[in-house]
Parts: sequence; structure tokens; C-alpha cells
Amino acid sequence: MLGAGSGFVRAPSSFPPLPRQARPDMSDTVRNRLWIANEWVDARAGAAFPTHNPATGGLITRVAEARAEDVDDAVQAAREAMGNPEWRRMNPHKRSKLLWKLAEALEANADEVAALETADNGKPYFESRKVDLPSIVENFRYFAGMADKVQGSTIPVSGPFFNYTMREPVGVVGIITPWNFPLSLAAWKVAPALACGNAVVLKPAEQTPLTALRLGELAAEVGFPPGVLNVVPGFGPTAGAALVRHPGVDAIAFTGSTAVGKTVMRDAAETLKKVSLELGGKSPNIVFSDASLKDAVRGASTGIFYGMGEVCAAGSRVLVEQSVYDDFVEQLAARADQMAVGDPMESTTRLGAIVSEEQLDRVMGYVEAGKSDGARLVTGGERTTVNGKGNFVTATVFADVDPGMKIAQEEIFGPVAAVIAFEDVDDAIVKANQTIYGLAAGIWTRDVGKAHRVASEIQAGTVWINTYNQYDSGSPFGGYTQSGFGRDRGWEAALEKYTQVKSVWVALDR
Ligand code: NAI
Ligand code: MG
Repeated sequence: MLGAGSGFVRAPSSFPPLPRQARPDMSDTVRNRLWIANEWVDARAGAAFPTHNPATGGLITRVAEARAEDVDDAVQAAREAMGNPEWRRMNPHKRSKLLWKLAEALEANADEVAALETADNGKPYFESRKVDLPSIVENFRYFAGMADKVQGSTIPVSGPFFNYTMREPVGVVGIITPWNFPLSLAAWKVAPALACGNAVVLKPAEQTPLTALRLGELAAEVGFPPGVLNVVPGFGPTAGAALVRHPGVDAIAFTGSTAVGKTVMRDAAETLKKVSLELGGKSPNIVFSDASLKDAVRGASTGIFYGMGEVCAAGSRVLVEQSVYDDFVEQLAARADQMAVGDPMESTTRLGAIVSEEQLDRVMGYVEAGKSDGARLVTGGERTTVNGKGNFVTATVFADVDPGMKIAQEEIFGPVAAVIAFEDVDDAIVKANQTIYGLAAGIWTRDVGKAHRVASEIQAGTVWINTYNQYDSGSPFGGYTQSGFGRDRGWEAALEKYTQVKSVWVALDR
């Protein structure tokens, strides 16, 4: 997911090489304690967990591990912030200014923050620096613009009454994020939550906690009061679950797997929290025979290989009309072969490291499943290393995939394309919707009528026509069906998620 409006897949095909000596030094930006009430603290139990660089296997640092008692401290700090007039009554123009200043701080530190993201996650540095960071900065600016426009309305009612509504913060928002776009996905939720006047407890993924910690620190540096943004790295079943169950938390905004999303919803039911879930996908990228084949091949390639396919909206099911199927598969495989696996810090690298050995094992398990289910492995599917180290896999294309096969049904979260043939428009629609997911879809055709008809028939929260992976801070993003509910980005979605409405009645005749 992700990227600036024009960023994401429109990144230039080559970047100027980064001279070795000019590589940003991130050592100054590694933080490894819990961030609560604008202070670094150790976990109460003294526990810590390692976070590794998946491209080398090297230990970056050991991070304090939040457990229930630490989450409780963070929630108390957030509740105090909500009770603190400095935050609760802050002039909205000032809230706007703080968000803008946070955008500036991220921009000023973009090299280091992007290097930190790449070290922790394994994605190519050009993706972190040229796509993620600019989009994150834009996201904070967008929501800075919203902070002083959170307003209600006056309503004509019968009788001698004046009735108006107010949009008030929900309160303490628990934000739980995954490892694929660690800072971006945190930003998508933190910025609107703060714009609407909430306080936040952020639980980043255990694989990639570092940029979230840095965000907390930068927020304090630009002037957010203590407790407004707390960051508590830890594991899902302990720190994550404690946040979801905590009676002091009013809302949970979650991005991650569909399986955990279901657990989150169940756990949140006990205290009736407001829940929003942005979950997995198995998005169809549909190529009609009248499309520009060259554009469609490019779009299918970036759709599944950008971010190593560790993208919730990845176009992992490529549906291709029978008459162009063979040509398409050949061209997609040729592009896959150009996806250079390499050191994420090299500007020529197109596929960085898979986030963890565990995730790489999952991906390789799906490659095996594809083969044993009878799909044709056209290219890739090889586990590899760079300089003898790290978790890497080559860009993989499976053809002759049956829509019922495991690789066509389950989210792989790796650079593995499943190419499926279809007969005509109706067949394409049926096959596109043959999934429990509904996050995104791509349509490639020169026929305007067909494009719009298919767009309206697809069960998906986002549809891209003759493009893929476009995002903007103003455009809502989220799922249909088991890809979840609630939207990130866009001010209307933010109002829904991060405010509640109060209706006030005033008698005019007494
Ligand atoms: P996950 O869903 O377990 O992790 C996402 C976040 O949820 C992490 O911060 C984790 O600590 C937290 N979490 C885990 N269990 C929790 C619980 N019981 N209560 C509260 N929070 C909890 O994802 P995981 O295991 O890292 O990845 C497994 C698969 O999930 C991937 O292969 C991929 O298919 C899918 N996934 C989808 C993502 C998306 O963006 N839609 C993101 C990450 C994973
Ligand atoms: Mg890591």
C-alpha cells in the first residue's frame, strides 16, 4: 500500500547511485526503549527483544518489550493527556501547526528515517526515501490542514429549539500496525487521530519497531504535550491484546492480517470499542485483450513486485484474457527476471529482503504449494542471499493457475504472481470476485464502458483503471468483505473514525 500520489509505482526506473560515503548514518536515530509521556522508559519487567536487519541477519538493537503493565502506563499517560487542558483545549490552529511542524521534522530527517526503515524492514532504500517518506510528510501536512476544520452543523428542528452538533475526539486511540510499511501505516492513523484531538498509544509490529519510536520522539521535539503520542513496541498476543482489551482505550485502528483482525474485533467487543480494520487482500489485476499490453505488463509487474509483494493491495491474482494469455505471461516473466535482487541500499536493487525468515518460509511454502497443486512455475521461486546473507527470494510468476488453488486464494505477501486465464467480461468478473477478500483491483482495457462496468461489479474498496498502486492522502483506502472496514486517508473517513458526534439542544423560549 502506499506512496505519494505520483510516487508509489511511478518511481523513475533508475535512481542516481548513492555513493557509499554519502549513505545516511542511521546510528544516531536508533531508539530502543518505550516512549511514554514524552520520555524513554524501560519495560517494567525489564524484558527486551531483538530487531534484525533482514538483508544481513544482523542485530540492529534490542528493544524494550512492552507487556500489559507497560501498555497500562501508556494508556494512563494518554488519558492524562486527554484531561490536560493544554491538549484538550488546545486552539485548533495550534494543533494544525504542530502537525505541520511534525511533517517538517520528518522531511528534515528523511534520509535517516528512511535508512532506519530500510534497515529494519529490508525494503529498497529508494522505496523508503523516494516513495514512503515524501508520502508520509504529505500525509501529515494534509491532516494539519484538517485540524482546524473539524466542525459540526446547525440543524433545523421543530419547536422553539436551537440544535447543533459538535465533532468531538473519540478519546484514547490504540493503533496497531504491521511490518510492511511501518512508518507509513502508522502515519495514516496517527495524523488524523491527532488532527481530531485524540491521544494515541501506538503498538508497532515487533519486526519493525524503530521508525515508530523515532516518530514519537520527533512529535515531542516539535511540541506535542506529554502523553499525546505514546509508542509501545511489543508482541501481538501480549502488548497488542492488552491495548485492545484495555478499558481506558476508546477506539482501535488496526492494520494487519485478517486472522488477527478477527481476534481484535472479538477482544474489543468486551469494552465496545470503536474498531476499524484494514486487513489482507488477494487483489485481482484484470487484463483485457484490448489493453495496451506493454502498460498492462508494467502495471502487473509493479502491482505484485513493488515492496517485494509485501503489500496488502498487491495485485497477486493476475487475470488475463485467453487470447493474449501466452504473450502476457512471457512478457511478465521477462520483467520479473529484471527485478534485481540485491542490497536494499544499492540504487539498482528492485527487490529487497523479505522482512523475516519466518515470512520467507511462508512465501517458500506457497511456492511449493503452487508447484504441487499443478501450477506452472514460469520463473523465480528461488530462495537466495546477497553477499551470502539475508532473506531474499526471486520474483516469481506462476501460470496456468486455477482460481481454486491455494496460491490463488491465500494472501502470500511475497513477490509471487498467480496468472489466471479468463474467457470474457462475465468470466473475469466472476473470477475476480472469487475470494474472501476485497481490498483493491486493477482493470486494463481501452474500452471506457467496459472499464466502468467492471469497476462497479468488483467487490473492492479501491479500483485502479489502467494504473495500479496509486494513493493519495485525500483518497480513502480500505476494504470490502473480509479485507475489513473503515477507511484510512481522506478527511471524511478520518471524521468517521476519529470523532464522535454530540447533538446539543437549547430551548429558545425560556
Ligand atoms: P499480524 O496480523 O500478526 O501482525 C500485525 C500486527 O498485529 C502486529 O503489530 C502484531 O504484533 C499485532 N498482533 C498480532 N496478534 C495480535 C493480537 N492477538 N492482538 C492484538 N494485536 C496483535 O501479521 P503477521 O503475523 O506479522 O503476518 C502474517 C501474515 O499476515 C502475512 O504473511 C500477511 O499475509 C498478513 N499481513 C497483512 C498485512 C496487511 O497490511 N494487510 C500486514 C501484515 C501481515
Ligand atoms: Mg527488523
